[in-house]
Amino acid sequence: MAIQKVGVVGCGLMGSGIAQVCAAAGFETVVREVAPELVDKGLKGIEKNLARLVEKGTITEAAKGEIRGRLKGTTVIEDLKDCDLVIEAIIEQLPAKKELFGALDRLCPASTIFASNTSSLTITEIATSTKRPDRFVGLHFFNPVPVMRLVEVVRTIATDATVYDEVVAFGAKLGKTPVRASDSTGFIVNRLLVPYLLDAIRALEEGVGSIEDIDNSMKLGCGYPMGPLTLLDFVGLDTTYYISQIMYDEFKERRFAAPPLLKRMVLAGWNGRKSGRGFYDYSDAANPKAMKF
Ligand code: 3HC
Repeated sequence: MAIQKVGVVGCGLMGSGIAQVCAAAGFETVVREVAPELVDKGLKGIEKNLARLVEKGTITEAAKGEIRGRLKGTTVIEDLKDCDLVIEAIIEQLPAKKELFGALDRLCPASTIFASNTSSLTITEIATSTKRPDRFVGLHFFNPVPVMRLVEVVRTIATDATVYDEVVAFGAKLGKTPVRASDSTGFIVNRLLVPYLLDAIRALEEGVGSIEDIDNSMKLGCGYPMGPLTLLDFVGLDTTYYISQIMYDEFKERRFAAPPLLKRMVLAGWNGRKSGRGFYDYSDAANPKAMKF
């Protein structure tokens, strides 16, 4: 059965991006948040992104209208009951995800495929909240979702091979390059990215270089679009700390252990760009200044 209607649960940074790319790729898309203000905020963000694409001439005004027309916001979970695929992008907490998928499992027909956008929780464990582990996958997108061209498609030992291929094909229809990954904590990208980001903090702690010099080294020396400390601020220090704890817990390897500085910055509420302060101070957003420790 081909995927035609997509449900997205969560309309925050990731959920709104996912909903945008699904609607842009021609899928009828319903996005659910818990409160009307959150639905409005997410949809306004999508409209702003689409308006920018019109300004740049990437899409026409008519196409923008069509994409917006395929997108429906809701606070009612029952509105997802006739979706062929439901993608979850809510808070990274296992109990919350299990509760949601339990409810969706009771609501949706047996044919509906479930996907989680989790970056570090175990897909196999989330799927235990349903009676359809064979129709359960991970679909891990990257921030900013409309721009980043990758999606990791994660299979568990219980995922049906035909369902998996269908979701891989869906990822390609979104205009992304789907990569196949097994349900190993962190999948491919975070397995490689998280130790790199944590090592950049360790290099700073050990006085190997300043914030700007560490960032410039990787940006200009290796052609990365952002230096590691800028990327940490972009992803969120709290998010990275959380992911590193899950990965350390799984693998018990030092490379995944959070450096003390990261822990202290998170304790102090310096979570990066979204909180106005991380390795850089964003009081003047257009001109971030490296912090002095
Ligand atoms: N939403 C939509 N479009 C956006 C955007 C956003 N939030 N931010 C930037 N863009 C678009 C711009 O409109 C522009 O489009 P154009 O080329 O058609 O004009 C394009 O992206 C480039 O933007 P800018 O020229 O403003 O700035 P940059 O050239 O610095 O690009 C960036 C911004 C794309 C964010 C780039 O710096 C980048 O690729 N950074 C690395 C991001 C990254 O590594 N993300 C993955 C994080 S890890 C993750 O998400 C996994 C999780 O589990 C931790």
